[in-house]
Amino acid sequence: MILFSGSSNGELTQKVADILSIKLGERELIRFADGECRPWIKEEVRDKTVFILQSLSDPMDEHIIELLLMGDAVLRSAPRKLIAIIPYFGYARQDKQHRRGESVSARVIAKMIEVLPFHEVITIDLHNDAIVGFFRIPVTHLSALPVFAKRLAELSLNRAVVVSPDVGGVKRARNLSQMLDLPIVVMEKKRNLDQKDESEVYQIIGDIKGKTAIIIDDIISTGGTIANAAQSLKEAGASSVIVCGTHGVFAGEAIEKIKKSPIDIMISADTIVPPHRLPERFHQVTLAPLIANAVKKIAGM
Ligand code: R5P
Repeated sequence: MILFSGSSNGELTQKVADILSIKLGERELIRFADGECRPWIKEEVRDKTVFILQSLSDPMDEHIIELLLMGDAVLRSAPRKLIAIIPYFGYARQDKQHRRGESVSARVIAKMIEVLPFHEVITIDLHNDAIVGFFRIPVTHLSALPVFAKRLAELSLNRAVVVSPDVGGVKRARNLSQMLDLPIVVMEKKRNLDQKDESEVYQIIGDIKGKTAIIIDDIISTGGTIANAAQSLKEAGASSVIVCGTHGVFAGEAIEKIKKSPIDIMISADTIVPPHRLPERFHQVTLAPLIANAVKKIAGM
């Protein structure tokens, strides 16, 4: 087998390679003056099982094209199998037509990947599980929840509850609450479709008074959802707030917003390289062992 890294998350790819005790595949990624991307696969891939790791993080349009062109370059040398490892599947939030006239971007990205063709996909905490069904090729959909559960257990919290910041995240929160044997609280969030990236909390369903609230979410983008949720939970009597968010996008002023919010600890995974150095209150857990295990299974190691 051979593992290549796209340009989005070389650190995570290196950690996976280290766990597997393999050297990363040699490749060159250059961009012409007009922005056109030219990948060059410098390894012999004939008859090999080839993995390319690329998170579809910002700039996601560039990262998706780079992944597709790298895949094409590999396929032209007759690999046995080509697998995309997409730790963060950008464009997943448009998983349905929220309004008439909009695109279903998650479906478009899935189609592009399978048409190339990549033979399989490994991804983590999709915004919506149903996106797996957008692919006709096998998808290994991993969950960061056991990794978060382990980190939370180390914090020896008492009187804690797991909170879903919106109705769409209830299943995720339920799964984490079962792992930690804690009750669940659900918040109702409303997004303003006319104002991008804006949301507000409507109500909190469940008992939060005097408890440590563990908010679990898939994506932390502007930080608005979790900052609003933390504020409402505090006003409702929560003693402290911890957030676990798999994909730490931390777009724009997100880090500042979270620092100013009542969030005591922000735990994210390493699916995305943060745009800025993370301050002290921010913890990061690695999902490299999770990915390495999935790679081992597919490669038959
Ligand atoms: C939305 O449904 C997602 O699960 C996240 O809650 C959302 O993407 C977070 O975005 P932001 O950080 O911009 O509020």
